[in-house]
Amino acid sequence: MSKKILLGVTGSIAAYKALDLTRLLRQDGHDVQMVATKNALRFLPRLTAEVFTGHPLYSDMFDPACSVRHIDLARECDALLVAPASADFLSKMALGLADDLLSTLCLAATCPVLVAPAMEENMYLHPAIREHRKTLTARGVYEIAPETGPLASGKEGLGRLASMEAIRKALDICLTRNGRWSGIRVLVSAGPTHEPIDPVRFIGNRSSGKMGYALATACASRGAHVTLVSGPTALSPPAGVDIRQVTSAQELENSINQAFPDHDICFMAAAVSDYRLTLPHPEKRKKDGNSWTLTLEENPDILAGLSRLKAPDQFLVGFAAESKLDHKKLLDKLRKKGADMLLANNISQPGIGFSSDENEITMLLPDGSSLCMGKHPKAVLANKILDEVEKVWRFPPRSRQ
Ligand code: CTP
Repeated sequence: MSKKILLGVTGSIAAYKALDLTRLLRQDGHDVQMVATKNALRFLPRLTAEVFTGHPLYSDMFDPACSVRHIDLARECDALLVAPASADFLSKMALGLADDLLSTLCLAATCPVLVAPAMEENMYLHPAIREHRKTLTARGVYEIAPETGPLASGKEGLGRLASMEAIRKALDICLTRNGRWSGIRVLVSAGPTHEPIDPVRFIGNRSSGKMGYALATACASRGAHVTLVSGPTALSPPAGVDIRQVTSAQELENSINQAFPDHDICFMAAAVSDYRLTLPHPEKRKKDGNSWTLTLEENPDILAGLSRLKAPDQFLVGFAAESKLDHKKLLDKLRKKGADMLLANNISQPGIGFSSDENEITMLLPDGSSLCMGKHPKAVLANKILDEVEKVWRFPPRSRQ
């Protein structure tokens, strides 16, 4: 599938990698047009870039060759990819500044916009840059997360431009977005919750978060704006997703309840701890030779709470973790919680469920109908689930944003 890619290059030492990226994208059959900032040209030889793309390289907005072209460039491309994206350029994009050709194109573009940041770790993690990245992600810009490894300073850290493979994959995802999910605002909860016992101990469960993360990735791939509220997991945040990290069930409830009114559909994939300590110990409890009894109280049922807040055009998907699938009990659970769909997984079978990469899901609807989706990798199941949602949910005509 040949597409027109507008490749924006900014002033990062990784700018030279834009040449390799161009070569690979052209090998994939794409037409690549490069636009470089003034600082990018300190790192990138113009002539080499023009030979690699087969097009003139544009940089100066007031260059007679492109002064009237910039709107066309933004209108004609199928995707605008800024790689590498410097700290300065990300900030400019977030603020909507347009003081050079590339930043102007970013404002004018109506196609998917992707950014692949590359910078020193301290810069990438600086609160200002974090905020700007968050703003961009919330606006639907797809961030291709940088990698950890040797940086230009010689230090090891987070901030290396993502691998060529990761960039190509992200681009593929954005270019094949499914129109139906485009602009839909999806809320996903994932992972376990940790209920504090004292500052070092907690009550948790074996959820890895993989199913929820796979759903978030699949929704983003179909063009949705995704907010992922995640309990503690070892997973990297999916690209292009607005992630909010929480720890306890109460934090999860606050975050989900606050976000829910701005979303069209919610997948409650989190394995919420049903109980928390009535009184967590403020200090680490020392052992004293005696037994220790913990007093627990029930956590709120977040899913049931959402069903009471739900507007008629919102769609609510619950999960059920069961040791034995009993259709009648599952239907009771679905109806009691007020969900529009329940996805039940049998956690007692070896090789599927909580920490595994595979799962076996049975879908139930409030009318009592059910469908066994079989055993598949979680990424495959996530797409099958979205296909089923498409069959039963009347998508809102436009996003709530
Ligand atoms: N859930 C929730 N709040 C809780 C417990 C569960 O929102 N306090 C949600 C889960 O995210 C899931 C669904 O409810 O979408 C079902 O979770 P599950 O653990 O199967 O059911 P429970 O309500 O905990 O009931 P039980 O364990 O007694 O079967």
